[in-house]
Amino acid sequence: LIGRLNHVAIAVPDLDAAAAKYRDVLGAKISSPLPLPEHGVTTVFVELPNTKIELLVPLGEGSPIAKFLERNPDGGIHHLCYEVEDILAARDRLKAEGARVLGDGSPKIGAHGKPVLFLHPKDFSGTLVEIEQV
Ligand code: CO
Repeated sequence: LIGRLNHVAIAVPDLDAAAAKYRDVLGAKISSPLPLPEHGVTTVFVELPNTKIELLVPLGEGSPIAKFLERNPDGGIHHLCYEVEDILAARDRLKAEGARVLGDGSPKIGAHGKPVLFLHPKDFSGTLVEIEQV
């Protein structure tokens, strides 16, 4: 079911400052900021040779990462994203195994224009898991 690690997402209080650190201090290639109103976040992607880092800041009211940043004012690792070949088949198998799929269970379009779903952190060792169909 599980494929490559697509990205590690880090919630940050200041997107420009975090992106500049990855670009100027670590010398990484970064994307332009991408607002994702449906997900309540704005993202910048840091491209690494073997995976990506997704920097996230809240967008709009009731952002799903606002509470996380209240608890982690310096920012912190928010979720891991694994690739799957067939997101509906993956969802059905995960549900059959007792994993909780967040939201209404229907995939949303994520930051790469591909369908994504999130899985409850309590079912994965305290880690919010995103699955993305590639
Ligand atoms: Co993500």
